[in-house]
Parts: sequence; structure tokens; C-alpha cells
Amino acid sequence: MDNFLQIESVGMTFDTKKGEFVALTGINLAVRKGEFVSLIGHSGCGKSTLLNLVAGLLTPTDGGMILAGREIDGPGPDRGVVFQNHSLLPWLSCFENVYLAVERVFGAAEPKSMLRERTHAALKLVGLSHATDKKPQELSGGMKQRVGIARALAIEPKVLLLDEPFGALDALTRASLQDELIRIVAETGATVLMVTHDVDEAVLLSDRVVMMTNGPAATIGEILEVDLPRPRERLALAANARYIHLRTRVLEFLYQKQFKAAA
Ligand SMILES: Nc1ncnc2c1ncn2[C@@H]1O[C@H](COP(=O)(O)OP(=O)(O)O)[C@@H](O)[C@H]1O
Ligand SMILES: [Mg+2]
Repeated sequence: MDNFLQIESVGMTFDTKKGEFVALTGINLAVRKGEFVSLIGHSGCGKSTLLNLVAGLLTPTDGGMILAGREIDGPGPDRGVVFQNHSLLPWLSCFENVYLAVERVFGAAEPKSMLRERTHAALKLVGLSHATDKKPQELSGGMKQRVGIARALAIEPKVLLLDEPFGALDALTRASLQDELIRIVAETGATVLMVTHDVDEAVLLSDRVVMMTNGPAATIGEILEVDLPRPRERLALAANARYIHLRTRVLEFLYQKQFKAAA
């Protein structure tokens, strides 16, 4: 399916105290089933806004979106979302945090034993079988993000939406979670839309990198096809001429064609 997720002429204007603020305009993007697409752009350009529109947490003021033939109209279990800062319930264990989401989606149709099986499988997928009974405060930042990914995948979403999922992690932890995500996506065939401002992360993980112009009225500037074969290996790619060319293209877009927004 060439347009599994279709974003059509989407615009988003916020009503603010100072009047209307046009955050996004004329966004057109079609994501294939099983494709990994990342959104990159300077801070404040509207990446999270676009992801939240797809998540159904915001309603576009223009255009519309279709996922697997159905119009997106509010949040739903066909989309699994992971934010930069984990949103785990602190009084629940890893298992319970994931189970809660599983129960909400499959609880009416499946017995408890099946729900528990789904929960264990999701935690195993992210390498956390040993930590099922731990509470969030007993986990490292990387482990918390793994639980978030497990919870998002456990509901078997049609698309996984990630908003800078590794942005708050140190560089080494980030690298190992990126490698994990590559493996998980290969294993599950997940369709992914990921927001990042990390050029290497975007090129390493993606089939296409969507580069956004600066706001206000941000839109898609260029789309880069990442034609590097999979499986991809971080160390091998570091010296790969094609990889270096692609990441330079993204850097040129961000630092030559777009001015850096005031921080
Ligand atoms: N609820 C809101 N009300 C008004 N303005 C908003 C709202 N959410 C985001 N914005 C504005 O929209 C722009 C894009 O924000 P955002 O999507 O968070 O950017 P990014 O994720 O790329 O850093 C920013 O200028 C931000 O201030
Ligand atoms: Mg953001």
C-alpha cells in the first residue's frame, strides 16, 4: 500500500492570545505500510504538532488524514505514541503499565491469560523480561523509554508515532536504543513516523527523511530517500560514502537552506 497513512493538505492554525498563529500549512505526505519515515527540522518548526495531528490529539484546521482507509478523527488504538519523556504511571510496575494499555484495547475480547501473554511478549521484544516487576523510579531513562515502546507496540498499532523518543538520553544509551529500534522494526514490520532533530538518527533509521521548513507556516521542504540497504550497522555506515553523502544533504538543508530558529 503506497498510501497507508495519508496526510492531505493539512494545516494547523492555533488561536493564541496574540491572535491566530499559523503553525503548519500545506502538508502532504503518504507513508507506505512498513515504511520508516522521520520528520526533521529546527526546534519550533512544528514537528510535534504534525505528530500530534496524526495521533489525533490535535484536530487540523485544514485538510485531513487517512490511516488504513479510515479518516483520523481523534486518538485511537490504531496508533501507538511514544513521547520524549516517558509517561509511565509511577505507582505501577513495568508489567502493569503495559498491561493497562493491553487491557484497554483487547480486554473486551480476550481472556486475562491472553492479555498477560501479550504484555510479556511486548516486554520481551524490548529486552525487559528481567524488569517486569520494577517500578518506573527503579529504571534508568533508557529502560523507561523501552517500557514506553513496549506499551505502544503491545496494542498492535497500525502506525507507531515517536516524538524524539531518545532525545532525553545520553549518547551511548541513545545509540543502543536506536539499534534496538532497528531490530524491533525489522522483527515486527512496524510502520513508523518519528520526530527527531538528530541527523544521524534520522538517516540511520529511516527509509525517508522529511525535512521541514522553519515556521511560522512551516511545511515540507524536501524529502530525502535513504537508499541504504538493511540491515544497517552503525559502525559500518560511519565510513560508508553513501551514508556520509545522505547525512550531508540533511545538514545542508538544515544549516544552509533553513536558518536556525532563535533558541
Ligand atoms: N497549543 C498551541 N498553541 C499555540 N501555539 C502552539 C501550540 N502548540 C504549538 N504551538 C506553536 O507551534 C509551533 C510549532 O511547535 P512544535 O510542533 O512543538 O514544534 P517542534 O516540535 O518542531 O519543536 C511553535 O511556534 C509553537 O510555539
Ligand atoms: Mg517537538
